[in-house]
Amino acid sequence: MPNSTIQLLSQRVSLRQYADRPVTDEELQTILHGAMRAPTAGNMMLYSIILVADQEKKIRLSETCDYQPFIAKAPVVLVFVTDAQRWHDYYQVTDVPAYCQRRGLQFQKPHLGDFLLGANDAIIAAQNAVIAAESLGIGSCYIGDVMENYEQHRELLDLPEYCFPVAMLCLGHYPATMERQPKERLSQESIVFVDTYKRLDTAALRETFAHREAALPKPNGLDADNYGQFMYGRKTGAPFFQEMHRSIAAALKHWQGGVVEDD
Ligand SMILES: Cc1cc2nc3c(=O)[nH]c(=O)nc-3n(C[C@H](O)[C@H](O)[C@H](O)COP(=O)(O)O)c2cc1C
Repeated sequence: MPNSTIQLLSQRVSLRQYADRPVTDEELQTILHGAMRAPTAGNMMLYSIILVADQEKKIRLSETCDYQPFIAKAPVVLVFVTDAQRWHDYYQVTDVPAYCQRRGLQFQKPHLGDFLLGANDAIIAAQNAVIAAESLGIGSCYIGDVMENYEQHRELLDLPEYCFPVAMLCLGHYPATMERQPKERLSQESIVFVDTYKRLDTAALRETFAHREAALPKPNGLDADNYGQFMYGRKTGAPFFQEMHRSIAAALKHWQGGVVEDD
């Protein structure tokens, strides 16, 4: 018998239209509290959350995030940032370079590892926010496109060198009359393995995607003969995906060196 938490997980859907009703300060505080109670590597909180309150900024994000107008209409917009800047700055303030010299250690700038660990922290906090919001009847939608247009987002949010936006959430109350239709998922056999990774062979791959293949409309506007071609055309090979690759590569340049600093 599923308990209320499992029911909540099963009923959650990505919400892209919101009731004409504000998210109260109390609700927002509950969501942020839930986010900050998320597990965090070493209890370091290698992330920051930016509440985008300015309507002009929301509109700008709705454009820079692959032109998704609903972003500008979301009552609450939260950007989750992988953040190595706070600790890096704190290490300067606490004379860590001198400490390193005394101990024969190298004082290093943030690395790719810090980037990914912070990204884990940020996304785990974001998902806690999603669940906290759901418990209040507030729906959400992730916006992966916030990883695009790095230079513009850096300027818009005044992000320093060692911060990168890994996720954005649009939040608002579910419309009262909306019927939720949770989307299907791939089968457990194709996702969950025991002890070792199981690479799917041709037959297993066809089986895994058979139900999506069957549901593919033809024509589908992308000249795709099958579901694989459709998804490549729509997602992996689409211009927004190429922009995401470019943007992340541009951001990672700051993190790649891990250059030893002179103190
Ligand atoms: C990392 C990530 C990025 C996403 N980016 C977008 C987005 O930019 N726009 C959007 O409408 N939905 C976005 N989504 C929502 C997904 O499309 C949605 O989770 C998926 O279709 C499954 O539907 P469900 O969440 O209702 O189960 C994103 C979800 C995740 C986890």
